[in-house]
Amino acid sequence: LSTKISPTPIVDVHTHVYLPRYAAELRARSSAPRILTRTDAEGRSEERLLILDGEPGSGRPVGPQYWDRTEKLEFMKRHQINVSFVSSANPWLDFLPPDRAQTLAHALNNDLEEYCASSPEVDGFPNLRSIYGFGLLPLVPEGPISSVIHTIEQIQTLPHLSGVIMGTKGIGNGLDNEALEPVWKAIEKAGLVVFIHPHYGVDGKAFGDKPNGHVLPLALGFPFETTIAITRLILAGVLDRYPDLRLLLAHSGGALPQLSSRIASCVAHDPVVAKRLKHDARYYLGKLYFDAVAYGSEELGFVSETIGRAETYSSAGGSYNADFGSTRMLFGTDHPFFPPLEKSQTWRSVEDNLSAIRSVRSWSESAQAAVLGLNALKLFNLKY
Ligand code: URA
Ligand code: ZN
Repeated sequence: LSTKISPTPIVDVHTHVYLPRYAAELRARSSAPRILTRTDAEGRSEERLLILDGEPGSGRPVGPQYWDRTEKLEFMKRHQINVSFVSSANPWLDFLPPDRAQTLAHALNNDLEEYCASSPEVDGFPNLRSIYGFGLLPLVPEGPISSVIHTIEQIQTLPHLSGVIMGTKGIGNGLDNEALEPVWKAIEKAGLVVFIHPHYGVDGKAFGDKPNGHVLPLALGFPFETTIAITRLILAGVLDRYPDLRLLLAHSGGALPQLSSRIASCVAHDPVVAKRLKHDARYYLGKLYFDAVAYGSEELGFVSETIGRAETYSSAGGSYNADFGSTRMLFGTDHPFFPPLEKSQTWRSVEDNLSAIRSVRSWSESAQAAVLGLNALKLFNLKY
């Protein structure tokens, strides 16, 4: 007698693409962000991607893994990922003038819909496609809010786009700008998930002048940027006004979980802010979703606990829920970034995140399955 064990899907919510149309835009530029061609001493030419401010050297090598869907599917297969929610990589449209941003947002959203819609069905999960996507909004300095709303409406009509990816600048000065109110409102109403992802880091001067490659901006600058952006958004009351807004934070929310009690204490002791929010600042962690791109099981366990205690900080009162944290955390890879330095079958960056999820001490097997895939299907309303 054999018992059929029904497998649970593995879903990657943090995986990027530079669509061919976007790569072409970057190739046509002469200043960062750009893709440039470099010829080495032996006369071999290679393309390099230069996107971060003050990036060391001439960026990093870039190739088909950044734009070719076959490579994405091959990567998924190699790591037994069944479904990917693909998003455009940074810096999105941030650097473009409003007209160009609007035109490109529309064209890229249509491109991504096609990229997803024509992706293969998933072996063993006939109701699922292997790729879904996060669309882009024309959020640029001086950009008209009407064109952002228009693009939200466009994305709603594209069946394989289930959310939007957003940087931390909004229309130039951050996610706490009142001008974004109609945007949050429209996104909440449309039921789209907002994936909030860093690009700018913090002031590069803080990192000194030693040759540390990309370590400081990626390991520290990125998560600090997210921490600051979300703290500002919470302080602006956005989560009080839009309680059904679903925000997914990159890199497990950066330092937000670690600093949340300090933030709450600073709020409680500040005469300007103390009475502003409906709840203790820690409550809002339970309104957010966190990717599980933290590379370590203790860190994931810690994030899970800070989410699990969020309800205890509700002004209405609530209790600690040990399982709640694992319902709001979702596996991700950050592909095609962090490839192995030496050729290998599987990527260390992916294996580390998978094994971290599988060894969080407080997570049962069903909590692991939730983080590995079931939470994502629920968040994006997919049946399997
Ligand atoms: N580096 C980037 O520029 N973006 C990512 O998403 C990851 C690494
Ligand atoms: Zn990323």
